[in-house]
Amino acid sequence: MHEGQNEASDQRTPKVCIIGASGKLGRYMVRHALDRGYEVVAVCREKSVGKLEELASRITILPGRTDDRAVVRRAVAGCDGVLTVLVPWGVRGYSTGTAQAVLDHAPADARLVFSCGWHIARDSQDVYSLRFRAFARVFGAVARLARVVDVHDQEEACRRVFASHTRWTVVRGSDLEEGESQGLPVWSRHVGDPILASNITRRIDFALFMVEALVDDALVHEAPAIVGCRTPSALNASTVRET
Ligand SMILES: NC(=O)c1ccc[n+]([C@@H]2O[C@H](COP(=O)([O-])OP(=O)(O)OC[C@H]3O[C@@H](n4cnc5c(N)ncnc54)[C@H](OP(=O)(O)O)[C@@H]3O)[C@@H](O)[C@H]2O)c1
Repeated sequence: MHEGQNEASDQRTPKVCIIGASGKLGRYMVRHALDRGYEVVAVCREKSVGKLEELASRITILPGRTDDRAVVRRAVAGCDGVLTVLVPWGVRGYSTGTAQAVLDHAPADARLVFSCGWHIARDSQDVYSLRFRAFARVFGAVARLARVVDVHDQEEACRRVFASHTRWTVVRGSDLEEGESQGLPVWSRHVGDPILASNITRRIDFALFMVEALVDDALVHEAPAIVGCRTPSALNASTVRET
């Protein structure tokens, strides 16, 4: 995809698939995509279709688990972009299966944008605080023991995305909060960058960054760690840059 694709040179409306569209992040992404005039195909679990009721008349919904390869294949067909919410539910590789289905079935030139958290390291240059590492270790162990969430699954999913030959971006979210949009989050290549210190982003703006990434070629093969643009650390960094 590229900016203005639906203008002069290419009259076709860009088609975007949102995998995991019924969640909080997913529904914000649907709205941002519709605001841009994109055609939207949404995948969500059958039991969650009702959560998209308000938007149902404006989008195509394909019910199914996000790791259902047949559903994903149909959903991404002919899409210019695919926005995927990676969630490591259960201990059976849900996230990995979701990512692999998208990598295998999306058109070769499609922009693929995946969501995850700061805990996913792109390389050895990400620097995590002791507090962050301790929380991640305890949460990861407890969640896996309870067989609710397997953080290693999301790590494996992202490893596969990083290794793929697709036009991917993996957006790494900070802690999230609800509230009105503050604008496009700022980002850094590495966790530990002072610009990220505030560690908070509005969920609506996380979604905005995901959708914006579809037309930002500078983000191809990047794993931006994001933070709200009005947070103290972001504002402080922009002041430092200006002086
Ligand atoms: N929450 C945070 O603080 C945080 C921080 C940083 C990054 N992130 C990232 O942000 C993204 C969105 O996360 P979110 O926490 O904001 O949640 P969310 O947007 O509400 O998304 C949760 C997703 O998980 C699905 N889901 C829930 N229970 C499930 C189950 N048992 N089996 C299969 N799927 C299930 C939901 O589908 P249904 O609608 O069908 O239930 C929904 O698509 C994720 O990639 C996450 O890693 C989150």
